[in-house]
Amino acid sequence: MPDLMDRFGRHHTYLRISVTDRCNLRCLYCMPEEGMVFMEQDKLLSYPQIIEVASAATKLGIRKFRITGGEPLVRPGLEQLIAGLSALPGVDDISLTTNGLLLAPQAAKLKQAGLKRVNISLDTMDATRFKFIARRGDLNKVWEGIEAAVQAGLTPIKLNCVLLKGVNEDEIGRFLKLSLEHPMHVRFIEYMPIGHDDAGWREHYLPLTRVIEEAGKLGYSLEQVEGPKGSGPSDNWRIAGGVGTFGLIHPISEHFCKSCNRLRLTADGHLKPCLYWVDELNVKPALGSPEAMERLFLKSMDIKPENHEMAALLAGEKQSHVPTERRMSQIGG
Ligand code: GTP
Ligand code: 5AD
Ligand code: SF4
Repeated sequence: MPDLMDRFGRHHTYLRISVTDRCNLRCLYCMPEEGMVFMEQDKLLSYPQIIEVASAATKLGIRKFRITGGEPLVRPGLEQLIAGLSALPGVDDISLTTNGLLLAPQAAKLKQAGLKRVNISLDTMDATRFKFIARRGDLNKVWEGIEAAVQAGLTPIKLNCVLLKGVNEDEIGRFLKLSLEHPMHVRFIEYMPIGHDDAGWREHYLPLTRVIEEAGKLGYSLEQVEGPKGSGPSDNWRIAGGVGTFGLIHPISEHFCKSCNRLRLTADGHLKPCLYWVDELNVKPALGSPEAMERLFLKSMDIKPENHEMAALLAGEKQSHVPTERRMSQIGG
């Protein structure tokens, strides 16, 4: 079987599939408040087309799928896609990244279709601050989503918290305590400059060394742990005596490109070998031909860069030009 190995010897087993660029929130680190020009519906890959792409991917060694957005749960009938993906031979993990708002009424149905687990965004535990960061929505609905996911057995659940200087850094202790007292995996994430002007990013970027400092100030002793299933880019820790764990995703202060095993499929059908770079391949011309689809995946290995350059951007070694035209919501994180 041909293998998805790139020029730097990295093997690829994980495909992130974005199903929409739309979202019911407008998180300040992701989308402008006024929204964006969204992809036209007829430009999106249909579920059978996504399954066709995914099927080619499994034949090349992809074993893990993550469904992303925008917010994936705004696209109707997601359980049909999940059922189709679960029926592919060789798949051992299907997960979903969501903001949680629409999760409660759908959790059981998604589990039934074959979804294994969910990662849910939770940047604050304060309802007023939630409105400031997400600009819409209701924090209570997110908690309901988390609870429903636990009930449905969509576990282990990971809570994604993007840390923003001057916005939610005062909640680090609260999130650490959540991992101490509850069987949750809290993941702190560094704010990345993906496809938007970097003034706001420079202002709010916070290196995750702050989390370790805060744990020290609180007198916690930490042990490094393996972390729950599929903890790809995350460095994982447990506070001594803790019920849960926490993780650090620090693409900027310490990038993890050396161990990257991911490819991305955008909702409008482009294969993106790296989150940060503009290069992508259109899968639409290859639909209907397994050979052409295989060639496209193999080609994506040839254009994958060795690493991103976000740190150089922060250090001022690069111009402020951001080398991806897509925003986070148009890629799927
Ligand atoms: P698990 O399979 O549970 O480990 O999930 P995941 O961390 O791969 O997925 P999730 O969608 O929860 O992503 C968490 C954060 O990691 C998001 O902010 C992503 O943008 C970021 N992330 C995931 N993969 C990459 C990557 O390859 N490069 C960079 N720079 N960030 C990534
Ligand atoms: N930097 C870091 N993480 C981000 N996410 C969205 N935009 C950014 C960004 N600019 C996170 C979301 C979600 C995941 C898919 O990516 O909070 O948890
Ligand atoms: Fe929506 Fe996620 Fe972007 Fe927030 S980060 S606006 S929830 S796609």
